[in-house]
Amino acid sequence: MNHPISLAVIGGTGVYKLAQLDDVQTHEVPTRFGSPSGPVRVGTLLGQRVAFLARHGEGHSLPPHKVNYRANLAALQQIGAQRVLALNTVGGITDAYGPRVLACPDQLIDYTWGRISTICEEEGSEVVHVDFGHPYSPLFRSKVLAAARVTGVKLVDGGCYGATQGPRLETIAEIARMRRDGCDLVGMTGMPEAGLARELGLDYACLAIVANWAAGCGDAGEITLAEVLANVEAASTGLPELVGELARG
Ligand code: HPA
Repeated sequence: MNHPISLAVIGGTGVYKLAQLDDVQTHEVPTRFGSPSGPVRVGTLLGQRVAFLARHGEGHSLPPHKVNYRANLAALQQIGAQRVLALNTVGGITDAYGPRVLACPDQLIDYTWGRISTICEEEGSEVVHVDFGHPYSPLFRSKVLAAARVTGVKLVDGGCYGATQGPRLETIAEIARMRRDGCDLVGMTGMPEAGLARELGLDYACLAIVANWAAGCGDAGEITLAEVLANVEAASTGLPELVGELARG
């Protein structure tokens, strides 16, 4: 019999598969919310059973506002995952969050609009108002931080993730406003995912991979996809060990 899945990982821009995931089985998982972004790959990572799903699709065909966040999370839940580590590629706003930094934010501000942001959208579904004061599961976050310590992966503890609509990047004025609001990081996929995970009762934390300085920050010039992808790759070297350790605990 297969062991239960210990952890699910959602990959963001630049992370379309999980390095060192072996003996991979591929599952197409239809859900009551429709199809997820692609197949769920379940395999063994450093001895633990881990599931992986590429948020934008494995060929990055889905922009942030077109991702079916509900189906993605429901699919992971259906295959038996209770804990979801979300990898989110982001821009850095404040000093501690320069390119190639990994961070585990503890707060977020939602600037997205027009996305389905609840599992009770359908007529007749029960209305829920989940507590969201701490948008990432505190206990699971502490496990992510502990796994980073054990594996020697440098991870900034905390920070506020500002979720923007995209798919375009932000103006300098928009980022200045986000800085005034208290955001340290900016990305396009943090919401509604985190809120939906809470509604579904999943343990959910974000591991943000800083790919560039946000507009007008640091030494930001023109932000290119090549820069983003190169920094994500460079920052991701310790991820398999961290994920394996997290899956163990
Ligand atoms: N802004 C929004 N999303 C992002 C960025 C950014 O600068 N970099 C990577 N994802």
